Amino acid sequence: MADVLMRTEGLNKSFGAVSIAEDISFDIIEGEVVGIIGPNGAGKTTLFGLLAGTVALDSGSIAFAGRDVTKLPTHDRARLGIARTYQIPRPFTHMTVRENLQVAALFAGQLEQAECDEWVDQVLEFTGLKKEHAMLAGRLPLLGRKRHELARALATRPSLLLIDEVAAGLTDAEVDDFIDLIGRIKRAGITVIWIEHVMKTMLRATDRLMALSGGQIIAQGPPDHVIKTPEVQRVYLGA
Ligand SMILES: Nc1ncnc2c1ncn2[C@@H]1O[C@H](COP(=O)(O)OP(=O)(O)O)[C@@H](O)[C@H]1O
Ligand SMILES: [Mg+2]
Repeated sequence: MADVLMRTEGLNKSFGAVSIAEDISFDIIEGEVVGIIGPNGAGKTTLFGLLAGTVALDSGSIAFAGRDVTKLPTHDRARLGIARTYQIPRPFTHMTVRENLQVAALFAGQLEQAECDEWVDQVLEFTGLKKEHAMLAGRLPLLGRKRHELARALATRPSLLLIDEVAAGLTDAEVDDFIDLIGRIKRAGITVIWIEHVMKTMLRATDRLMALSGGQIIAQGPPDHVIKTPEVQRVYLGA
């Protein structure tokens, strides 16, 4: 049987009277790339916050790598192997690209200084940021900022990587590069949950899709199946 890396059961979250996550339960299997789609305001980013521990649950539970992490703060979840990116990248803008990765590797990746440099070099190479390693992170152009956001998450040595919308604002060729990069991340043994608006990207790059609307999972399964369900056609494609 395939190994479950993450299991959520009955996740609930409201902001005031508005329910943003409603009874969300799913399993993430080791090694898969799961896509999350859904209209603006569906609760996708909030769900990442719940998984990473930056947003507090009202109720429900989250198990990761066989441990109950429901009550664990973000930094402990990061050390256990959960990393996330943000829709709007959040680097330390006055530090260099390399220094940002070093911070991630030292604190969340729990590497010693001696191992850290070599690891950071590998991440720079892997994400195509070697040339920019000495640049201040705040000076990177859009594509570089997005690569760097992913690199910072990878530097923490995650087993589960949560990617929140990298494709927006990029050209088709740049999106292809990200699809390639995420394929290599998968082949490196990292499990991925990827939120993206661009349906074409999700169809090509994921093993399974979950569609969210109004804080609920309205469909999940093989990508080509999910996009054809009436629920998804109605709320997401506006058909
Ligand atoms: N901290 C917050 N306080 C109040 N409302 C929030 C907060 N964060 C998100 N929301 C609301 O929750 C809903 C879902 O937001 P979000 O998770 O960002 O959706 P998505 O990523 O799918 O676009 C939106 O209506 C948003 O305004
Ligand atoms: Mg979002």
